[in-house]
Amino acid sequence: MPTSPFPDTTPLPGKRPLRIGVAGVGVVGQGVIKYLSEHPDFAPAIGEVVVTAVSARDRYRKRDVDLTSYQWFDDPVALATSDAIDLFVELIGGSEGPAKAAVEAALALGRPVVTANKALLAIHGHALAKTAERTGAALLFEAAVMGGTPAVKMLREGLTGDQVDRVAGILNGTCNYILSEMEASGRSFAEVLSEAQAKGFAEADPTTDIGGFDAGHKITLLGALAFGAAPDFAAADVQGIEAVDLIDIRLAHDLGYRIKLIAEATRDGDFASVRVHPALTPLGHPLAQAGGSLNALFIEGRRIGRLFLQGTGAGQGPTAAAVAADIADYLAGGRRPVFQRPAVELQPLKPADHAKRTTAAYFRLRVHDHPGVIAAISDALARCELSIDSFLQRSVQPGGLVPIVLTTRPALETQIDAAVAAIAALDVVAEPPRMIRIAMI
Ligand code: HSE
Repeated sequence: MPTSPFPDTTPLPGKRPLRIGVAGVGVVGQGVIKYLSEHPDFAPAIGEVVVTAVSARDRYRKRDVDLTSYQWFDDPVALATSDAIDLFVELIGGSEGPAKAAVEAALALGRPVVTANKALLAIHGHALAKTAERTGAALLFEAAVMGGTPAVKMLREGLTGDQVDRVAGILNGTCNYILSEMEASGRSFAEVLSEAQAKGFAEADPTTDIGGFDAGHKITLLGALAFGAAPDFAAADVQGIEAVDLIDIRLAHDLGYRIKLIAEATRDGDFASVRVHPALTPLGHPLAQAGGSLNALFIEGRRIGRLFLQGTGAGQGPTAAAVAADIADYLAGGRRPVFQRPAVELQPLKPADHAKRTTAAYFRLRVHDHPGVIAAISDALARCELSIDSFLQRSVQPGGLVPIVLTTRPALETQIDAAVAAIAALDVVAEPPRMIRIAMI
């Protein structure tokens, strides 16, 4: 019999409960501890679990859970390698520092790891998968993408019989909330962001979310799972929502679209495109209808066609449920390569050539109120061989400028970029055009 590269280290059901160590006791960590202590037999046919030890930055911070009955570790690496636990749950976050050191240490010992850390896996996932497979440790990360919505399992298990060429969706709840609130309340990006921070919906340092990086980490992982490739965040093309103006949200709506932060990974042969950017999404499309902080995902398989998944992408309960699902998988003995193929065989796909991508686009500009302005703009577009799909001109505004919005037919992105430059160079244009892609979904 061939030897499996993934030795089964699962404790047999019926033995003592599986002892869990939790590093990082913030909102999600507290949710996991609460859930597992209230439901130690949450997977009754498989086995019991018990949290035995914890580690966090501040032992005495006020929390909803009482930590006094758990063994305390100041150092997460000491917890990860301690004999007091059988499985290490990493909820510290961050791609470097203590989270990375602790996960590496646990895997090197052959100890199973469950993590919600998308940044760590998007950047170091290939190296970690190699260690995990060398030592026979499980490395599970359902909670890293879409919180309680099982996108990882869907790709890692449900769709292994198909070839998935595209995953695209809304993977950051904070951005989706901000864009939805701007549209609903007519407030600016800055106003909605400050309110979200005051209510605790957005982080004090929101860069990871609003800069598109969190969605970039997540789509990097989904692409790796979908295509059986090494995750390679450095190759992702990431743009956030900081530059989305209320006026764009309103004008997009008038044209039949809603602006969403779309994360997509597409495979074409040996090439992949992984990108995150704001995009006009047709109002009738299910992605346009996923409002508030919801996450949503399309998966396109050659045999199954299109799947649509929508649900909560964050929060204590849903994320704790995803961590528990991974623990149950481990207990049940499920063994699959971390990213679909054995890590030693994994390669990153080659980044697709930007020049060959196509998109339709929305342009917003303000022009001086002179005869011949429209002709000059349409001439600039014609020189780039861009065809106009729709055109909207508003009345002259105080100050004498006229807002114009147009959308183009799909074209190469290089043509779109050339048109932005050509329009910006026109004397009649008061400021460089704002360009937002139209989602090709
Ligand atoms: N901050 C993320 C979001 C959730 O807003 O969706 C955790 O990944």
